[in-house]
Amino acid sequence: MIDLSHSHLRSVPVIIKKIVTEDAFNYPDPRIKNVLITKLSQLHDIPMENICLGNGSSELIDVITSLFGHNSVIFTPTFFLYEYYSKKYNRKPTIIPWIWETTYLEGSLNLTESSLIWICNPNNPTGHWLEPHVIYHLAEKNEGIIAVDESFSAFKEPEMKSISASEAFNNIISLRSFSKEFGIPGIRLGYCIGHQDIISRLNERIEPYSVNSLALLYGIYAIEYYVEYRKIIEEYINRRDIMYEILLKAGYYPIKSYGNFISIEFPSTKCMNTIKTALFKKGIKVVDFSDWEFTSNNESYIRVAIPNEKDQNYVVSSLLEVRKKYEILF
Ligand SMILES: Cc1ncc(COP(=O)(O)O)c(C=O)c1O
Repeated sequence: MIDLSHSHLRSVPVIIKKIVTEDAFNYPDPRIKNVLITKLSQLHDIPMENICLGNGSSELIDVITSLFGHNSVIFTPTFFLYEYYSKKYNRKPTIIPWIWETTYLEGSLNLTESSLIWICNPNNPTGHWLEPHVIYHLAEKNEGIIAVDESFSAFKEPEMKSISASEAFNNIISLRSFSKEFGIPGIRLGYCIGHQDIISRLNERIEPYSVNSLALLYGIYAIEYYVEYRKIIEEYINRRDIMYEILLKAGYYPIKSYGNFISIEFPSTKCMNTIKTALFKKGIKVVDFSDWEFTSNNESYIRVAIPNEKDQNYVVSSLLEVRKKYEILF
């Protein structure tokens, strides 16, 4: 089975050989934590005080919601954790259906009371990319925190500077994830960039040992191999854009994506389910937007992770074959 419900990016194997069993025998060392934060601060060209680490960006979404989420806004369809942690803290977020930039702009005028606005950029699962000026506009209109989840930003070309690195807005924070950028979700490592007062408040809530010793080391090595990672990511970006063009020509309705996946809209839920099942029978697993991983009311979309080079041809030809076979449903 080619499982395209998740990323296929694989990390540089040499890193794993550098981490030895002994590294697990000690509690996470604050000095090693500082080395990792120093490397991130050099990578982003921002002071160390503006960065904090988390056990995946998931932990940071939790802590940000606990601190600021009493009156939050979530644009959907999007990643499920913003809503999930709102429920954990018994908060009722305002859910606004995603109608691309106009909604953000018009909607922002009515959002002045919000304490926290979640923006996933590029958005999971649609792959949409929101231009920074729209986010700055939101930050200007709102005193609350604008939390920009940049977990998939590595797949946006040209390589994107973190939006919160801009000193013009103290209320924008951003999240980054080693799970996406370096393809290591099992390591559980993410970080937040933002104004130092916000970062200190987050650090007060984050468990002292939340990032384990192996994750700290893996993170340090991953940044050392940044150039190699970029090459792998650029190959994915290239294959993604080629796949998008092919799907478009074949009569699908793909959304131009800036993530490591492409989402496809279907004329009906029936059509979507037929194609999803047909792909499954051919050994290709994809997710649709009703999956537990998303907050969404849209039923007629699937999200296809970009396959690795070896599987790409088979995946693309299978997509074309099932499109032809079920022409009548389109
Ligand atoms: C948009 C988005 N943000 C955050 C996360 C969580 O990432 P992490 O593994 O760093 O906790 C995911 C995971 O799928 C995601 O898609």
